[in-house]
Amino acid sequence: MGNILLLNGPNLNRLGKREPDVYGHETLEDVVKSVEETLNRAGHSLTAHQSNHEGQLIEWIHEAEGVVDGIIFNPGAYTHTSIALRDAISSINIPVVEVHISNVHAREEFRHTSILAPVCAGQIVGLGIKGYQLAAAYFLQLSAEGRGKV
Ligand code: DQA
Repeated sequence: MGNILLLNGPNLNRLGKREPDVYGHETLEDVVKSVEETLNRAGHSLTAHQSNHEGQLIEWIHEAEGVVDGIIFNPGAYTHTSIALRDAISSINIPVVEVHISNVHAREEFRHTSILAPVCAGQIVGLGIKGYQLAAAYFLQLSAEGRGKV
């Protein structure tokens, strides 16, 4: 039995209302529920948090050490700006999968670079909210192969 942490950064509390042509009509609550169901079915648990504040996200990353087996993280716009979040991810020994709902590479140039990606296990980009499920599936697969602590 493992514990996965789902973190969402700034403005993702507005999913469903926010630019629905880019981010779709489903809410963050829908995302959390579906990822939780997937993990629970496989005997794992989910803790989910969203914050619009960089420092709060950093605190949750620090607190995950020793408690959580994998992190699914959509850092929102902090992806492109936050050295502090990158340092937080580097400071823990837990695999982080970076998720973006939209295809950031097909959007403005400032979204093409992720400051965090080099210290994450991997990145899922542009597959809509299915990206969160795919990240959960990755951790379940690691667990099934006995490669993760999950
Ligand atoms: C996002 C992409 C970011 O560029 C943007 O700032 C977001 C959402 C995504 O999920 O596509 O807030 O992370």
